[in-house]
Amino acid sequence: MTTTKNSSVIFSSRPDGFPIPGEHLQVTNDATINLDSVPLHGGLLVKTIALSVDPYYRILMDRTYKLGEPIFGHIVGRVIRSELEGYNPGDYIYTEEAPFQEYAVVTRGASQLRRIEKDAATWVQYLGVLGMVTRTAWIGYYALAKAKKGETILVSTAAGGVGSAVAQIAKEQGLKVIGSAGSDEKVKYLKEELGLDAAFNYKTEDLEAVLKREGPIDIYWDHVGGKTLETVIGNMNPVGRVIICGVIEQYNSKDNTGFGVKNFSLIHSRELTVAGFWVNPLEKREGDFGFFKEMPKLVREGKIKIREEVRHGLDTVPQFLLDIQKGKNVGKAVVIVADE
Ligand SMILES: NC(=O)c1ccc[n+]([C@@H]2O[C@H](COP(=O)([O-])OP(=O)(O)OC[C@H]3O[C@@H](n4cnc5c(N)ncnc54)[C@H](OP(=O)(O)O)[C@@H]3O)[C@@H](O)[C@H]2O)c1
Repeated sequence: MTTTKNSSVIFSSRPDGFPIPGEHLQVTNDATINLDSVPLHGGLLVKTIALSVDPYYRILMDRTYKLGEPIFGHIVGRVIRSELEGYNPGDYIYTEEAPFQEYAVVTRGASQLRRIEKDAATWVQYLGVLGMVTRTAWIGYYALAKAKKGETILVSTAAGGVGSAVAQIAKEQGLKVIGSAGSDEKVKYLKEELGLDAAFNYKTEDLEAVLKREGPIDIYWDHVGGKTLETVIGNMNPVGRVIICGVIEQYNSKDNTGFGVKNFSLIHSRELTVAGFWVNPLEKREGDFGFFKEMPKLVREGKIKIREEVRHGLDTVPQFLLDIQKGKNVGKAVVIVADE
């Protein structure tokens, strides 16, 4: 019998604004797990090596995470025991639906569960540039942007994981790419490292003036919503496409009613298309557009890169989640939990 400590990130109360470490999320270090006998119900027992912290976990705090239980999300880990055909102890796995614990029971049918090769990429890359953020950018872009060479795309939160991937894919396709970000340092990165055609700090520059100078816009890749969306709609070319990938402005609002976009009639008069999506259902409907084949190659060739911010230990998860809601992260947020 091997009983061992099993620290967990517990959802302790439901926030109505920003998620506060210690209040809405607590890391407990007193639970234990019996690695030999914990029931697997046809799934896997996995030692968590690394996990990803994503903005949408804040949405899950509103309607999905259960109080008193560990939050769940994306991990890579090593299989300790398996009741699932095709998986053996010692295998390494990726999934987007594992409880955030040192040792996690991963259910059969967990979202995006697959085996990964230890030496084909780093654990951080599996959760970052080869993980959900880049997959979102790739599948969303190819399914919805209908982009043509020479068109102009505006990407909001362009220095983040999804945003920087979209910006690079569009640049590679010959579009004029404009990116917005929340600090001068992020703007410098977009211009100097990613080679965007234009980038601006939305906190200090007037969006309307930027769009008059750099637009009009054919494709708007939206992560923000609200007033930003309204201003961009007012500066779209006819037959433009608006892709709603996220609405982070609203994730932490207290009343959750959001901002009412007032120029909705332009969607009609300019024949704009507005498409919201979630990557996993979209992938089920439309396929992966060669993501799993193409992305490792593009990463090796240095054609797609995303910045990573790595912290260490489950204890860092609550603060990291708050930091990405406030733009204090400088890239894909990944936590290393343990050695292999
Ligand atoms: N549709 C899908 O299936 C799907 C999948 C993955 C992610 N997403 C969404 O895509 C977006 C980006 O995700 P990510 O993982 O790449 O995160 P990220 O961009 O690395 O981190 C979130 C960023 O949002 C920005 N931000 C925060 N509050 C803001 C506000 N009020 N106005 C404007 N920007 C704000 C901050 O950057 P600045 O410093 O630049 O403000 C922050 O760094 C999120 O909205 C996420 O929920 C959607």
